[in-house]
Parts: sequence; C-alpha cells; structure tokens
Amino acid sequence: MYRPQADTALLVRELRRSTIAVGARVLEVGTGTGAVAVAAARGGARQVVAVDVSARAVLAARLNALARGLSIQVRRGDLFTPVTGEVFDVIVANPPYVVGEVDPASLRGRARAWEGGVDGRWLLDRICAAAPQYLARRGTLLVMQSSLCGVTRTLEALEAAGLRASVAARAHEPFGPVMLARAGALEAQGLLRAGQRHEELAVIRADRPDDHEPPVPGSGTEQRAA
Ligand SMILES: C[S@@+](CC[C@H](N)C(=O)[O-])C[C@H]1O[C@@H](n2cnc3c(N)ncnc32)[C@H](O)[C@@H]1O
Repeated sequence: MYRPQADTALLVRELRRSTIAVGARVLEVGTGTGAVAVAAARGGARQVVAVDVSARAVLAARLNALARGLSIQVRRGDLFTPVTGEVFDVIVANPPYVVGEVDPASLRGRARAWEGGVDGRWLLDRICAAAPQYLARRGTLLVMQSSLCGVTRTLEALEAAGLRASVAARAHEPFGPVMLARAGALEAQGLLRAGQRHEELAVIRADRPDDHEPPVPGSGTEQRAA
C-alpha cells in the first residue's frame, strides 16, 4: 500500500488551488489509499470515481471514503478499463514513475505502486495517450511525475494527443528509501548528478480544448477540426 507522500500532497494542493473539482465529475486512476479522491470529494466534486489495480488499495480507499462519510465509487482494474465509455471533467493521477530495471508488467504487490520501468514512463505514456478519450470537452487532466522521467516528453505526448499541456506546479523533494537505494545506478546512467539526492516533482496540467477552439498546432485535433 502506497502511503500518501510528498507527491500525493503536491497533487492534492494543485487540485485544490485550481478549483477544477468543484461541481465536476472526477476520476482518479491509481488511487492507493484514496487520499486524492477524498480531497476531490471534499473539494465539492459532483461525482468521484477512483480506480486501482490493487485489491488492497481498493479496499483501503473504500474504507477511507466510508470513514469520512464520502460518496466515492472505487473500482478495481487496469487504468481506464473500469470506466470504459464514461467521460469526466477532471482526471487526476499519481502513477508509479520510479526509474528502474524492474519490469512493471511482471510485478505483484507493493512495488507496483512505484515501479515505472526503465524510463519511468510505463503508465505515464499510457495515461497521456488514453486520457483525452475519457475527458469531457474543456476537461482537465492533472498528472504527477518526477523530472527524472522527462517532463518535456509528457508535455509533447499530451499535445500530440490534442490537449493543451503545461507544468502547473513543481517541488524539490529529497529521495525516499527506494530512490536512495537506486541513486548509484541512476548516477551511472547519467540521470543524476554526482551526489544528487533529490528530485524535482512536477504536476502536469492538460486541458481538452472546447471543440470550437482553434486546434492545438501539431496535434491530431487539426485533422478533427478540418
Ligand atoms: C504512486 S501510487 C499513488 C497512490 C495515491 N494516488 C497517492 O497519490 O497517494 C500509484 C498507485 O497506482 C496503482 N497502480 C499501479 N498500476 C496500476 C494500473 N495499471 N492501473 C491502476 N492502478 C495502478 C498502484 O496500486 C498505486 O496504488
């Protein structure tokens, strides 16, 4: 179980600051304990759906919602599969993004909460590609990542998917135990400077334009709008 950490707090802060949850249908993918979904429900969301692949996480999120008297639908499954055919005004995600040699596809148990594969983008890329399909017109995606797995890559992937993307919030955080154990290997790969033991976290915001707005240059929306 992924205990809420600095990345959870940064995402919750951005969700509150932006006020996008007010009156909105909100989806959280990879909910863990449900901390972000709880923040959305408390922040005035009209509906909150939370998804996680882990049975333990689903149970924890359900109990946390129940204990707070909040109405949150918690569903088990892989990313967007449990919400096929539905659309949301807001999608939030703090996916696993730790860079490492572990193959996330073969994982079971706790490590599934943080292992992001060789470039940390195992789920990030899938979220960037699929999110537009689940966003209502003028809907917003907030997704958390480390700069170690490429903020520019995320911005480009979201723009290519037809969204307007930017960095909404950043924070420098000291490494936790997983990253500390991996720091030597990451230095050897050139991903960290010698002695660097902190990373920059970023919340990426991506907005789906209204269908009447001009298309995002270089994206598939140009063809759709033509
Ligand atoms: C970094 S934790 C974030 C938990 C929580 N949202 C938070 O911010 O504290 C990532 C979560 O994604 C879940 N997860 C991993 N792979 C998933 C997948 N394919 N589909 C849905 N959830 C997944 C993990 O079980 C874990 O709960």
